[in-house]
Amino acid sequence: MKWITLYLLTLCFPTTRADCKTQDLIDECIKQGPVLWTRCYEDKIVTCNPRIRMFHGFARQEVNPADQAEVGASSNHRVRIPSSALRRIGKRHSKKTVQVVASMINSTFFQQATPGMKGKRKNRRPTVRLEGPVLGEQVLFVKAENQSVSDLTEPVQLIFKHNKTENNGTCVFWKEDETVWSTDGCNTTKTEDTFICSCNHLSFFAVLVNPEVMVDEDHAEALSYITYVGSALSAFFAFISMFIFVGLQ
Ligand SMILES: *[C@@H]1O[C@H](CO)[C@@H](O)[C@H](O)[C@H]1NC(C)=O
Repeated sequence: MKWITLYLLTLCFPTTRADCKTQDLIDECIKQGPVLWTRCYEDKIVTCNPRIRMFHGFARQEVNPADQAEVGASSNHRVRIPSSALRRIGKRHSKKTVQVVASMINSTFFQQATPGMKGKRKNRRPTVRLEGPVLGEQVLFVKAENQSVSDLTEPVQLIFKHNKTENNGTCVFWKEDETVWSTDGCNTTKTEDTFICSCNHLSFFAVLVNPEVMVDEDHAEALSYITYVGSALSAFFAFISMFIFVGLQ
């Protein structure tokens, strides 16, 4: 009787791996490390065991590297990965297919490092950062197999639907080591109802609406010193040239 119960229990809980509920995974990861929770999330979302293979805000698909892959993470978010990128990823595995995971995350979990956080982080503080509301408060995470992908020759495309009121958006990704949004390696194209982000790597992606460029205060100070010194020097040499000119007359 004991064994039957045990057997039935294992049937109900086939593995001990966590379900793929985004909220649960994030809560667990934030407990482990509130700043760099994204690394933990990346690992968990790839290995979690979804009760349903595809639900709103999550998709895990085996794709064929011979073709371009298109994965929908939600009704407003799609990912296109070119065949060349999939083949590169597939080469490192003996499998014939490549597993692609896409998941949506609430953007309030992404807190940018600001100059005021001095000392709290051992990481280098950002000098210039972009600030603006995240389109739909949603961040799109994409990963292929359990590896990082960067420097792609053919870009991946992240497609964010917008409701036609946002007229200015910039594609960004989450720079994990600096905890800031960055545009490095990403280009933005706007169509009538979408923003298409073409990026050369896989990461956490978002569109910032009407972003402002902020410069770190310390650096702003340094920049103004450089301006003063530069102006003083040019004034000095202007006088010298004037004296020489007068002297030559
Ligand atoms: C994101 O989280 C905030 C705070 O918990 C909530 O108010 C907001 O509705 C959420 N946004 C989305 C798109 O789920």
